[in-house]
Amino acid sequence: MQLSETAPLFSTVKLGSIELKNRLVMAPMTRSRADADGIQIPLAATYYSQRADAGLIITEATAVTKQGSGYPVIPGIWNDAQVEAWKPVADAIHAKGGLAFLQIFHTGRIAHSTLVGETPVAPSAIAPNGETMTATFAQESFELPRALSTEEIPGIAAAFGVAAKNAIAAGFDGVEIHGANGYLIDQFLRDGSNQRTDAYGEDRTLFLKQVLDSVIGAIGAEKVGVRLSPWTPFNSMTDSDLEATFRKAATALAGRRLAYLHILNGGNDNRPAAESFSLELAEIAGLPLIINGGYDGAAANAAIEKGIAAVAFGIPFLANPDLVKRIEKGAELNAPDFATFYVGGEKGYTDYPELATA
Ligand SMILES: Cc1cc2nc3c(=O)[nH]c(=O)nc-3n(C[C@H](O)[C@H](O)[C@H](O)COP(=O)(O)O)c2cc1C
Repeated sequence: MQLSETAPLFSTVKLGSIELKNRLVMAPMTRSRADADGIQIPLAATYYSQRADAGLIITEATAVTKQGSGYPVIPGIWNDAQVEAWKPVADAIHAKGGLAFLQIFHTGRIAHSTLVGETPVAPSAIAPNGETMTATFAQESFELPRALSTEEIPGIAAAFGVAAKNAIAAGFDGVEIHGANGYLIDQFLRDGSNQRTDAYGEDRTLFLKQVLDSVIGAIGAEKVGVRLSPWTPFNSMTDSDLEATFRKAATALAGRRLAYLHILNGGNDNRPAAESFSLELAEIAGLPLIINGGYDGAAANAAIEKGIAAVAFGIPFLANPDLVKRIEKGAELNAPDFATFYVGGEKGYTDYPELATA
């Protein structure tokens, strides 16, 4: 379906300190093409700048520490060499008129000791189900994580602040705190993975709040977004009262004047219900809402008409560098090549074709 040029999806919107030229956001996507030291590859500048027509690019999840870098060949942002490697990426996006937030995370128990150099850490000593990748790309069962001591948790929150400062030094317009998809912040939020009896168990949002304090202190609230995924069971996430848990998480964001709340509706097949609850969370938080998960142009436009600020596209942006133009024209989309999501160098990365201009 072709959308009119004046469709709300193509209108500008202000999120914190930035103004998006349209409401199509590129969702964060891990591409696993960095090196073993978490150094982003130069080709990432081409990949991301090809997609700079997006109103905002949110980068792949980037680790705040080695302890939080639980997958092989994902990028980091804790040392100078990593910052240097990200600079050409931010520059290339800006040179094409785009904006970008770096997504920052700590993988917690979603890790293998061969990658993080120690037993993976978590709120509680509860292993996720299934297998994960080791440093040599072998599949092995998840290890039993070590429960973090009360004293060491503020240090991890502080590392998010350092990472945010580094992201700004690398040239990014802000950061997205990755509180979704079963990584450390999500592990703290839910009672399936957080069975602590200290302050971090009594208030499962305490770690999120400390991360927010640290990141806001480092770069200012208007440059900070937060991503949550209430319904995503990925990485063995469970909770006995999901709605109450996420209302509390939204309350933890309230009054902080962040740039946005980003909600992934994955796992909830009922889009109207997911949008309504997400809007409720955004209202509690007092923030503009970015929604994501399975959208096409028409559904995204309808979401904007409902008061959602922007819609993030994952796989459609991965496979279509010119997604904005294609949605505008109602053009067909390239088929994604699943085999090259996490491997393949330039194949499936920078070689998806754009529409012929003729
Ligand atoms: C290859 C791939 C990597 C992903 N990596 C991340 C990530 O690093 N951080 C994150 O928050 N979500 C990640 N996701 C989830 C996407 O951001 C998005 O939520 C998901 O693809 C659903 O949106 P879509 O239906 O528009 O593709 C990833 C998804 C894919 C396909």
